[in-house]
Amino acid sequence: MKVIIPKEIRPAERRVAATPQTVMRLCKLGLEVVVQAGAGAAMDLSDAAYQEAGARIESDVRALWSQAGVVLKVRPPEEHHVLGMHEADLLPENSVLISFVWPAQNRALLDRLCARKVTVLAMDCVPRITRAQKMDALSAMANIAGYRAIVEAASCYPRFFAGQITAAGRVDPAKVLVIGAGVAGLAAIGAARSLGAIVRAFDPRPATRDQVKSMGAEYLEVGMHESGEGAGGYAKEMSSAFVQAEMALFAAQAMEVDIIVTTALIPGKPAPRLITAGMVESMKPGSVIVDLAAEQGGNCAMTRPGEIATHKGVTIIGFTDLPGRMASLASQLYGSTVAALLEELWNEARLVIDTSDQVIRGALVVHEGQLTWPPPPLPMASPPPEPGVAVRATRTEEHAGAEKAEEARPGAGTAIWIVLAAVAMLAVGWWAPPSFMGHFTVFVLACFVGWQVVWNVKPALHTPLMSVTNAISGIILIGGILQLGGGEGWAPKILGAIAVLIAAINIAGGFLITQRMLAMFRRQS
Ligand code: NAI
Repeated sequence: MKVIIPKEIRPAERRVAATPQTVMRLCKLGLEVVVQAGAGAAMDLSDAAYQEAGARIESDVRALWSQAGVVLKVRPPEEHHVLGMHEADLLPENSVLISFVWPAQNRALLDRLCARKVTVLAMDCVPRITRAQKMDALSAMANIAGYRAIVEAASCYPRFFAGQITAAGRVDPAKVLVIGAGVAGLAAIGAARSLGAIVRAFDPRPATRDQVKSMGAEYLEVGMHESGEGAGGYAKEMSSAFVQAEMALFAAQAMEVDIIVTTALIPGKPAPRLITAGMVESMKPGSVIVDLAAEQGGNCAMTRPGEIATHKGVTIIGFTDLPGRMASLASQLYGSTVAALLEELWNEARLVIDTSDQVIRGALVVHEGQLTWPPPPLPMASPPPEPGVAVRATRTEEHAGAEKAEEARPGAGTAIWIVLAAVAMLAVGWWAPPSFMGHFTVFVLACFVGWQVVWNVKPALHTPLMSVTNAISGIILIGGILQLGGGEGWAPKILGAIAVLIAAINIAGGFLITQRMLAMFRRQS
């Protein structure tokens, strides 16, 4: 089967749907790859590099499209001004198109594609579920966009991001507000933090609270509880009362912060208008707003999609091609997600569209000329924490300390157990010889301390805990070996052998698990 990769025709689009590395992956599947001459020229990828990877180069555009079994593109099909026809009409009957499609915004295009009797998989409709991560082109692009948003903001912001104390005076760090902590928002937080800025972020999905905090940013909250968690890993539209409340928060923040990055969006819906002209005017001169949702209408009232606007000394960046500004990386990541999708579809040397597969069904917008969009809804993501839990998680340290003390206070059951244990100890002490009591006390204390240590360790600290238990196991091993070597009678020898066996399992298992964990972080060669 032939897979074709045409050159993108949208002016200033520098990305391409495959790079030599991803072409190699496709060739490995047994696919014949044909690339349009000059497809990667905008990012300095030569035809020769594609040829070396196993692709054939075709310079006649009509000849290229006419042989397509599968077409890989970045942008949805559009009018080809040089040929004087629409790209959709170049698709051969029964061929498969894989590209961004944005079906909610492109109904006319969908009808056109149906009329061509083709199959279309939209990369923007791949559900955000764990199994589909390697095919998640939207996240790959949003990650780049979030990072690039900060780079663009830094180039327009007339001050340092990090604070400095110099002989010439003190410079305060820049304050950055990120609205929407999805993929792009988290990437923006990471980039701004690494430049040394103070970062705050807001998102209505409770699951983002810990993510924001783990990136080193402050999580802002509004005074009302409404979860923004929707289906398929995306957010749901917020009520107007919630939007009013968050806008009040942003109005207060606008007067304080120097840079605002807005990424708030519900897929398929126009971007919520969260930053008003008044908020822009209240910002300090020199401040910058980067509106990532510019293409969907913008989160800021003053955004001009695709352009940089200035209003009363505030710069508003509305670029809609942020991933394209890092075209070679974007093409590599996009190409990789497309290759992963093709690998999923490729079964016994043929392309199989398995509509029972949740991922394929989600991405399938047209199947053999039939409109299959929208797909049936995915089950809800894991339920957000209970309101009470959310509130508890955000209380001040003081409150948290008080709560911990409360939790730690023993209940009636615990008190009974302590009394029973004390009575049992007294009974044993009455009856047993003094040498036994010494060992027994150490044993009971060791059990108690071990239980307290293991029980109270958070899962995140299990790895360091494992190394501690390995060290303890080492001591037990030596003790067991000593018991095996000397001593009278069989009982100490049997107990020693059991101790050696269990400690050895613990040590070997610890090393094995550590190796597996390290392998997860090692780069694939
Ligand atoms: P995402 O869906 O992962 O994140 C969007 C976030 O906005 C979600 O966490 C959601 O909870 C939040 N949100 C929704 N409604 C909100 C509200 N009323 N207030 C505050 N937060 C709200 O999306 P992703 O992938 O991070 O993309 C973010 C934006 O970046 C999208 O608008 C996307 O189209 C845009 N984008 C822009 C590019 C460009 O070149 N300008 C390139 C790539 C993405």
